[in-house]
Amino acid sequence: MPKPQKHVFVCTQNRGPGHPRGSCQQSGCAEVMEQFQWEFQQRELYGKYALTPSGCIGPCGGGPSVLVYPEGIMYGKVGKADVTAIIDEHLIGDVPVERLKVPADIWG
Ligand code: FES
Repeated sequence: MPKPQKHVFVCTQNRGPGHPRGSCQQSGCAEVMEQFQWEFQQRELYGKYALTPSGCIGPCGGGPSVLVYPEGIMYGKVGKADVTAIIDEHLIGDVPVERLKVPADIWG
């Protein structure tokens, strides 16, 4: 299996209502994950890039959280409409999407 150029982790962690940490599931990560899956399929990106749903990856209150390696760029408050930009600009264009990066005091 060829090593992917980049690996996208989408947090799909769920926690019960009222949990003090909240969760990406509560902030809408399911539709973000679905959009990534749809675009990966439609644009035949699997193989070149990897996409993996994950448990909690850190900044729960600022989700949905998306983490891209090898750069280790953390995106926060990602919406369905942001997925194309992450794919076009970061995965394919190799330039992280500055407007979606979490602040450096949270991930820096
Ligand atoms: S629940 Fe998604 S980052 Fe913690």
